[in-house]
Amino acid sequence: MKKILVVVCCGNLNGNTDKLANSFIEGLLETGHEVKKVFLGNKDIKGCKGCGACQLNHHICAIRDDMQDLYPLVNECDTIVIASPLYFWSISAIAKSFIDRLYALSTNDKYPRKNSILLMTAGDNQDWTFDHSLSYYHILTEALGWNDLGSYLAGGCKGESGNHSIDEKNLGEVYNFGKKII
Ligand SMILES: Cc1cc2nc3c(=O)[nH]c(=O)nc-3n(C[C@H](O)[C@H](O)[C@H](O)COP(=O)(O)O)c2cc1C
Repeated sequence: MKKILVVVCCGNLNGNTDKLANSFIEGLLETGHEVKKVFLGNKDIKGCKGCGACQLNHHICAIRDDMQDLYPLVNECDTIVIASPLYFWSISAIAKSFIDRLYALSTNDKYPRKNSILLMTAGDNQDWTFDHSLSYYHILTEALGWNDLGSYLAGGCKGESGNHSIDEKNLGEVYNFGKKII
């Protein structure tokens, strides 16, 4: 059984990415994992300033925002799931801020060991739609020494403005992906 932290990095509660994360979580719970979900859309997670204070002060980030509540959750879990919409061919800004702020947990560029999973949604569904994000994610996991357990990328979530339309097929597939995490 894993202790899994699912970080939903988008502004739309019950939007495509949130729904994708929820279905994945259903699968994880079916398999008996302990899961915590955090929706970042209503949180204040500022970007890392690169001040280096965390490296001199016991891994305590100098920025006093909602990330302070997330550090203990990151420390407790063995697996981090990053769920993000594709924004201009990349992960969302809040996902990037969350990841950058993990720098506070590093020692000499070594990070606490974690498993990781990437979940994404996008409007387009070209074979290259997620290339940049996936490439970034693979470099990230490699650099942080994280064990990549895989990713699920749901393209074709078009929807008119305000009409979020992830396909049931995606939700079923990501649920099964969740069930397969051991
Ligand atoms: C600012 C912004 C940028 C976007 N950029 C892209 C993009 O580069 N490629 C794409 O396929 N979809 C893009 N989309 C569409 C979203 O990725 C897609 O609708 C996603 O499923 C929205 O997730 P949400 O419902 O969780 O907010 C963009 C949407 C927004 C709001």
